[in-house]
Amino acid sequence: MSTYRIKQIEEYIEKFFRESNSFENEYDKKYRLEHSYRVANIGRFIAENEGLDAEALIAGCLLHDISYAGEFSGNDYRNHGRDSAVIARPLLEELGFTSAQVNEICYGIAIHVDGNAEFQGERTPLAQSIEDADNIDRFDAYRIYDNLRWKKYNEISLDEKNSYVCNALEKLNSFKSVEFGTATAKRLWIDKLDFQLEFYSKLKRQIDMSTIIVNAEKTEIRQITDNLEKSEVTRTVLEALPEWFEIPEAREEYIRDSKDKLFFCAYDAGAPAGFLYLKETGKDTVELAVMGVLKEYHRKGIGTKLFNAAKETANALGYSFIQVKTVQMGKYEEYDQTNQFYISLGFMEFEVFPKLWDEWNPCQIYVMALK
Ligand SMILES: [Fe+2]
Ligand SMILES: [Fe+2]
Repeated sequence: MSTYRIKQIEEYIEKFFRESNSFENEYDKKYRLEHSYRVANIGRFIAENEGLDAEALIAGCLLHDISYAGEFSGNDYRNHGRDSAVIARPLLEELGFTSAQVNEICYGIAIHVDGNAEFQGERTPLAQSIEDADNIDRFDAYRIYDNLRWKKYNEISLDEKNSYVCNALEKLNSFKSVEFGTATAKRLWIDKLDFQLEFYSKLKRQIDMSTIIVNAEKTEIRQITDNLEKSEVTRTVLEALPEWFEIPEAREEYIRDSKDKLFFCAYDAGAPAGFLYLKETGKDTVELAVMGVLKEYHRKGIGTKLFNAAKETANALGYSFIQVKTVQMGKYEEYDQTNQFYISLGFMEFEVFPKLWDEWNPCQIYVMALK
């Protein structure tokens, strides 16, 4: 491979872009030039893996979008492949590429947008690889950032975010069947798509967690992030449950401790009906630190809904276990109900610490795997 000729093309495009007034701003100009280099690097990788003419493919990739720095014929950007081929041809001839090489490279450049050239040519693996390399770069990490920036993702509503992400996921899945000129390009393509699919799936999961989690019948579960709201909800509910939270100091401690915890609240017509919060007790484990549901809402499935929402979030955050402590079964009627409730959720007996709290309140620890 003649690095001299590649160097010449690099100098040519640098100058062409530098002197161009066609870009709306510096960002777009830089993006287009950097994109051209990335496409050329992908082209090189494909050529080396497929035994294609690496120099010719790099040359074609470097020049594939050169017309962005000029003018699109008919003022239509869809002509930019054909326009780029017109700019590239005399340069490639001047650099001493054979006429067969020039034609193959220019044909690849011309067809990279919509498949059409203004001259005869063959869609050889090399010609096709220019479009392939272009598409591969257009679906890599940078483009995620660029698309979100272009969409003004930070300014749109949660609903708009959601539909944008759903749309992206649908499109990405449909792109898996796109044909490529070489096995190497197809492999790179699937790798980029899987990466984007994973990113948007995770983004979707976050969007789902950013609002109402369960909206069954009248009650809705919401995650609360505001510390003041957390302490108000904790106070409202715990003060209404003296059977479980009669000691004022202990209650105040629960209220203070709600700060910065993963906090979920069940609302009935806008008023808190119950809440819970989770506390990290190790890097793999969270504890259901406190949970309270107003008595009129007991046995209506609200505790279960609250717990499921919290469990799903803890799981999504990567925790492996959830634990909960209560007074051992057989001591007090109220706490027997609590034990029954935890068992019904799927908690398993882990250990009893008879004197962790005091001898009248043996501490039962339950545990549950999240994965
Ligand atoms: Fe292009
Ligand atoms: Fe491109």
